[in-house]
Amino acid sequence: MAKKRDEFTAWMHRTKSNKENAVWDKPKITIIKGDITKVKADAIVNAANSGLLGGSGVDWAIRQAAGLGLQQECQLLREEVYPKGLPVGKAVSTGAYKLNAKIIIHTVGPRYYKDNPELLRECYIRSIMLAEENSCESIAFPAISTGAYGFPIEKSAKIVKELFDNFKSEVIQEIILVLWSDEDLRVYKREIEE
Ligand code: APR
Repeated sequence: MAKKRDEFTAWMHRTKSNKENAVWDKPKITIIKGDITKVKADAIVNAANSGLLGGSGVDWAIRQAAGLGLQQECQLLREEVYPKGLPVGKAVSTGAYKLNAKIIIHTVGPRYYKDNPELLRECYIRSIMLAEENSCESIAFPAISTGAYGFPIEKSAKIVKELFDNFKSEVIQEIILVLWSDEDLRVYKREIEE
């Protein structure tokens, strides 16, 4: 766990200092409305829960689309790596199975009225770190925590904007933000593009 924390700190410093490094480019940010299971990206992010065994919303859609192999891998992960569940703010990758992607990244967002809201930022960062480790050139995010976990869409958009405005990568060329409703799309476009 200490090692992971050091990696996280190192990554944070890297994003702050990388502006001098010409090799690292700012990824294209694309904001779309749609079903994340239909999006083509190397990494698809799942708004999971700690149990890793399934839920509603994005989690349900991804499991339906990916098929039984994903469920089996998640069961193994739970039994062998996370017997107490994946903590809030952390992320883990699995195969993508029937999804049009290389990997699925499962991250557990904070419940707005219960957990530390700062952990939402960590979900995005840890997902990006895993995508880079897996040589993914594109990553698609749902609006983590803004469904069952009650995070206000506007606050989520502000966190995402602040994070990706300052982000450069040697690996990731496109970040796709996938919104489910017209209203969420409108808020994201207003907060991030304007
Ligand atoms: N594609 C893209 N976005 C979607 C999709 C989809 N197929 N389905 C729902 N959404 C949107 C929701 O409208 C919301 O804005 O994704 C956002 C996140 O909603 P949830 O999936 O409810 O995720 P979250 O709020 O993080 O809650 C996680 O819910 O599904 C369970 O297992 C999951 O217990 C966990 C909790």
